Amino acid sequence: MAVMTLQFLLLTFTTLLATVYGDDKNHVYSPCSDTTIQRHDGFTFGIAFASRTNFFLNNSIELSPCDRRLSLSSSNSQLSVFRPKVDEISLLTINTSSFQPDSYGGYMVAFAGSKYAARSPPAFVANSTYIVTSFTLVLEFKKGRLNNLYWKRDGCASCKGQSNLVCLNNQDCAFKTSSCKNQGGSVDCSLGIQLAFSGTDKHYSVLNSWYEVENLRQYSLYGLYSNLRNSLTSQYSKLF
Ligand SMILES: *[C@@H]1O[C@H](CO)[C@@H](O)[C@H](O)[C@H]1NC(C)=O
Ligand SMILES: *[C@@H]1O[C@H](CO)[C@@H](O)[C@H](O)[C@H]1NC(C)=O
Ligand SMILES: *[C@@H]1O[C@H](CO)[C@@H](O)[C@H](O)[C@H]1NC(C)=O
Repeated sequence: MAVMTLQFLLLTFTTLLATVYGDDKNHVYSPCSDTTIQRHDGFTFGIAFASRTNFFLNNSIELSPCDRRLSLSSSNSQLSVFRPKVDEISLLTINTSSFQPDSYGGYMVAFAGSKYAARSPPAFVANSTYIVTSFTLVLEFKKGRLNNLYWKRDGCASCKGQSNLVCLNNQDCAFKTSSCKNQGGSVDCSLGIQLAFSGTDKHYSVLNSWYEVENLRQYSLYGLYSNLRNSLTSQYSKLF
């Protein structure tokens, strides 16, 4: 009897583990396809680099970089694809030792989906004078479908009193490009993109890594996670 109970307990325990640490059940790997996710799935999205105007049709309507009407693939652009785990705090990095965002137009847009395409507003990354290296991207889901992507900014709070950083337009902390390693300076100007998930997955479970980011911000997430790198990048294009 005692043994049976133990076995039963073990079974429930394993089942519990399986639900908590369950495999990635999302089999959609293209950032230009639709999917619905549950917590702990992998989720594929892209970040495109181009000039600001290249993200707009007719200079007025912002389209997803997957939309062929933008013809991003024939303009001066670059694409990175990421697959973080849903609701896990991740820091994505893009190494700029051989990739200089200002030579590809200097703006970036995060995107995923097709019929239900979501794209972030274009964010300034770099021009010949300044480079912004630290970003927070919020991925907002509704019943498991990506609903919104946006950049969360802290109004330059993180560079207050730091002499090597400049606050641009009251929203972005930027380095002078002349201080970057690839320009002979001493700063590694690689891009770091902090991810936060919010909303609900397809089982209506609440995604709340967002709250962890908010709480951790005061302890400087970049310090904590400087060694954490999510799978970088598949270069490039054919997706468009
Ligand atoms: C693009 O702009 C032109 C001129 O302003 C306008 O006639 C045309 O309808 C616009 N096309 C779209 C798809 O908005
Ligand atoms: C970027 O790549 C260079 C050269 O491979 C390396 O020295 C540097 O540490 C990398 N930076 C990051 C943040 O990974
Ligand atoms: C670079 O961007 C900053 C911030 O938007 C702007 O003030 C500056 O004039 C730009 N410099 C060049 C060379 O485009």
